[in-house]
Amino acid sequence: MKMSGYEISKSEFKSLSEFVYKEVGIHLAEHKIMLVRSRLSKRLRDLNLDSFNAYFEYLSNDDTGEEIIMLINEISTNVTSFFREQSQWDFLEHEIKKIELKDKKTLRIWSAACSSGQEPYTIAIFLLSTLKNPQSWDIKILATDISEEILKKAIDGLYTEQEIGALPKVMLQKYFDKRNISTKNGMQLFYEIKPFIKAMVTFRSFNLVYGDYSILPPRFDKIFCRNVMIYFDKETKNAVVNNLSTKLLKNGLFFIGHSESLVTMKDGTLKLEQPSIYRKQ
Ligand SMILES: C[S@@+](CC[C@H](N)C(=O)[O-])C[C@H]1O[C@@H](n2cnc3c(N)ncnc32)[C@H](O)[C@@H]1O
Repeated sequence: MKMSGYEISKSEFKSLSEFVYKEVGIHLAEHKIMLVRSRLSKRLRDLNLDSFNAYFEYLSNDDTGEEIIMLINEISTNVTSFFREQSQWDFLEHEIKKIELKDKKTLRIWSAACSSGQEPYTIAIFLLSTLKNPQSWDIKILATDISEEILKKAIDGLYTEQEIGALPKVMLQKYFDKRNISTKNGMQLFYEIKPFIKAMVTFRSFNLVYGDYSILPPRFDKIFCRNVMIYFDKETKNAVVNNLSTKLLKNGLFFIGHSESLVTMKDGTLKLEQPSIYRKQ
């Protein structure tokens, strides 16, 4: 081991990447070798292991399934934000105006890789501030992620000023409580999602690649699966999209990240409405 990190051989990287692909469907291309080395070196140090070989042994003998999640936390990114990808919220605003004219007053929405919660809480805040009469609606938001650790943060619903970003003051007053919390850097100001918003969201862990979709609710009006499929190869992505699509109601909307696309999907069940937004046929 060197202070700057551990050495990783091509065969060690191959064993790791094959294992990761088998377990979670994430394809680690060869050029990711240095990224894996630098991201996982700290993990090896924490575990007191002296090589990537030893780490592979540890990982493949871990029956709890926790180490693979630690690994994914290190190599994938949890980056997210409130009201990410504004054009999608603009689109949804028009959509909500259309559905308000109909009789059906239920909305089931799934945030399928919710990270630290900003996405599902944005959905809740967006609906409460867009619907004319939100009290008359039965709204349920399911928020899932593979990482138990990130889900804990999501459930806490506590965000720093930096994470809050440029949310308008009125929105902060209506939907967040200010909290001064003691941290290792002294007292720090946080904004906590108010209980009535938290109550609209149910968090649970779910692996989009190997999860059992039959245990989840059968039908959603909208599914957000944004900025997660970038880690999947074509076959995995197609399988995940097919599974998600069977959970969408006819005319339901499917949102992906701005840098993602479904061009390789051939079956035509999801029709492009505008970049990164699809409608179930
Ligand atoms: C970049 S964040 C995206 C958060 C949010 N959807 C957004 O667009 O702002 C990607 C999230 O996908 C989760 N993830 C990675 N692989 C996953 C899998 N196989 N199943 C479910 N979630 C996964 C990660 O834990 C991470 O929180």
